[in-house]
Amino acid sequence: MTETLYSIAVEVNGAQRNGQVTARTSLVDWLREHLHLTGTHVGCEHGICGACSVMLDGEAVRSCLVYAVQADGHRVVTVEGLAPPGGGMSILQDSFCEAHGLQCGYCTPGMLIAAQALLNANPRPSEHEIRDAIAGNLCRCTGYQQIVDAIGLAAGRLSGETS
Ligand code: FES
Ligand code: FES
Repeated sequence: MTETLYSIAVEVNGAQRNGQVTARTSLVDWLREHLHLTGTHVGCEHGICGACSVMLDGEAVRSCLVYAVQADGHRVVTVEGLAPPGGGMSILQDSFCEAHGLQCGYCTPGMLIAAQALLNANPRPSEHEIRDAIAGNLCRCTGYQQIVDAIGLAAGRLSGETS
């Protein structure tokens, strides 16, 4: 039996992308397999680990729990979209490197998305607010403290309080 395909048009990292997807295609599968944006990782595939986090209209969401058809007409930012247009790393990404906010890196794209969504909404978060923002993102390596430090470092740099 052939599955029905649906046309979608989504702004992904600032560019309009069109696709043909089945009703059950998840957003993460469309991003990774059709657009080849493999920076977004797949972990549990049922909404627990946060590795697949992307921003949908500015909100961090788990793209394994969003159907691609639900993103039709909306704006998605993946980890690839966090880097500055000219290349290199964003202040947030650089802060993760400097504060040792990653080890194996599997959780890192989701952590960066959760952190960026937080900083967009709250440029000077408290440590409690940082921990709350990443509470749904699992990391098996770091023990979380370096990630919290990295986000705090980025917040200070972005607000001009820290170099
Ligand atoms: S892969 Fe989506 S939450 Fe784990
Ligand atoms: S750095 Fe390995 S899971 Fe977070």
